[in-house]
Amino acid sequence: MFSCAKLSDNADFVDVLLSLEGEEKLEEDDMIAVLWSDIQNKLQEELELVLGSKRSVRDSDVGNLPYLQAVVKEALRVHPPGLLLSWARLSTSDMELSKGMVVPANTTAMMNMWAITHDSKVWEEAFKFKPERFAESMGGTNMDLWGNDLRLAPFGAGRKVCPGKNLGLVTVSLWVAKLVHHFNWLPNKENPIDLTEVLKLSSEIKYPLSAVALPRNLLLSS
Ligand code: HEM
Repeated sequence: MFSCAKLSDNADFVDVLLSLEGEEKLEEDDMIAVLWSDIQNKLQEELELVLGSKRSVRDSDVGNLPYLQAVVKEALRVHPPGLLLSWARLSTSDMELSKGMVVPANTTAMMNMWAITHDSKVWEEAFKFKPERFAESMGGTNMDLWGNDLRLAPFGAGRKVCPGKNLGLVTVSLWVAKLVHHFNWLPNKENPIDLTEVLKLSSEIKYPLSAVALPRNLLLSS
């Protein structure tokens, strides 16, 4: 049994963790570890369902792994690497926007994708890492991220859209799938996870990520 504050009927797993009180109250790095292992288990279950435990994941499998795609989408939403897209654009003519707003010619404009992907008017629980928001089987929406829906455009949109977007997305998805299929990832107690970002040419993690990787076959045979 655990003690927690009173929760509403639609409270989810994260709300339960946040509401724990007294001795059960979790520190932030323990909270990350619990959530991490929950999402990791779901990914491993999906990989085993689609691939079995005998073969490794290939790039052609990515399309058959909807939860993996949802996890990568959510990572690109919460941590968009190119958060200012091409940094700056120059309007070549007067541009009329909605509600009578006009961007005059020769204006340097910057698009803040980070602000859009963290806007609570656009996203429910915008600061929570919730891959299920993109997984149709979990009640989510399989959103397009190619620039057709500007709520989530981590590769930009329009004429300057990223030309490497397909390669980028499938490579990231494949790496995540391989890393999670072959290893169990645990936090490193001596070097707790800190997801603070720093803006360089693109947005990067400020402190190197340190984690413990346990080969899964080793765990299975022990
Ligand atoms: C997850 C991986 C990647 C992300 C999130 C990403 C994101 C972006 C973003 C946001 C832009 C600016 C788009 C705009 O302003 O509308 C961009 C531009 C660009 N990206 Fe990527 N990119 C990724 C991978 C790649 C790869 C793999 C390549 C090449 C193989 C690539 C090549 C480029 C180039 C050349 C541009 C400049 C396009 C131009 O200015 O016309 N990107 N990328």
